[in-house]
Amino acid sequence: MTTNEPQRDKPLPPGSVENEFGVPIPGQILPPEQWTVSALRQWPEGFVDFEQIFGRKAPVVLDIGCGNGRSTLLSGFGNPEWDHLGMDNLPVVIRYARKRARQRGLGNVRFAVGDARVVLPRHIPPASVSQVHIYHPQPYYDPRKANLRLITPQFLLDVHRVLIPGGLLVIQTDNPAYWKYILAVAPAFFDFHAHKGNWPDAPQGRSRREIIDHVKHLPVFRGMGYARTDIDPAQARDAAAALPPPVFNADRALMELDKLEAQGNEGPKALSGTKGRRGRKGGRWHYHDKHE
Ligand SMILES: C[S@@+](CC[C@H](N)C(=O)[O-])C[C@H]1O[C@@H](n2cnc3c(N)ncnc32)[C@H](O)[C@@H]1O
Repeated sequence: MTTNEPQRDKPLPPGSVENEFGVPIPGQILPPEQWTVSALRQWPEGFVDFEQIFGRKAPVVLDIGCGNGRSTLLSGFGNPEWDHLGMDNLPVVIRYARKRARQRGLGNVRFAVGDARVVLPRHIPPASVSQVHIYHPQPYYDPRKANLRLITPQFLLDVHRVLIPGGLLVIQTDNPAYWKYILAVAPAFFDFHAHKGNWPDAPQGRSRREIIDHVKHLPVFRGMGYARTDIDPAQARDAAAALPPPVFNADRALMELDKLEAQGNEGPKALSGTKGRRGRKGGRWHYHDKHE
């Protein structure tokens, strides 16, 4: 059974495959007796103990700003030998992410509510994580909210600190100005380079936002890089202090994407009434950012 139903609370029958804008969400709903724990409900006083959370010693992947968890689930299914922690500061999306992981019986995935700018320095031990993935960090179109942008020199310094030596950072965005900023600052901490083309493991998109971009024929900017091992912590701190903050014009024309992202999971038809940046004339958008 497949369904294009929007996110909702009514349980779907075992065997269901959910679709999001026409693209299946990885895995299928299992009978309740096979459901698992998928929530990390509380951050500890200090650092988390990943071995205790997952009940084994395995490489850890963080998915930061994971939204409804599609990218975390994809990696959870594709890499059963890795453990995954998805986090987002919006409780409602974490609720859906947890439900999806739980009903799919994924033992190597947990989701937590949290502001990554606080969580990383307070709760993630140094050199404890193998990969950090960040798909479509919120651009914050209102210049007065630019201070909420996730990717800052300090945040990249925190990512560098939690990664094991040579650990991997993956970032993507559909916002050209954000991308330009990322390209300017990430190389201070990572051997960072652009990834051309779609991800081979998910040509239709690893994340919900990326799928919307594909349907709308919008460019997606992808990049990755291994944590630099040729800088020591003091040099990394100095680099962070010298780099500029994320001040740029995020282009309010892209705000409509945020509305689509906040909608239910209707099929591609749900996206057909709006036009992409590269679409026909007049395709300028004037919707609200769900965060603004
Ligand atoms: C544009 S959405 C992208 C969601 C998902 N990664 C995707 O690609 O579909 C950005 C997400 O980042 C989350 N977010 C924004 N600031 C955050 C922060 N400081 N810490 C954790 N999550 C954050 C938002 O709540 C939102 O769910």
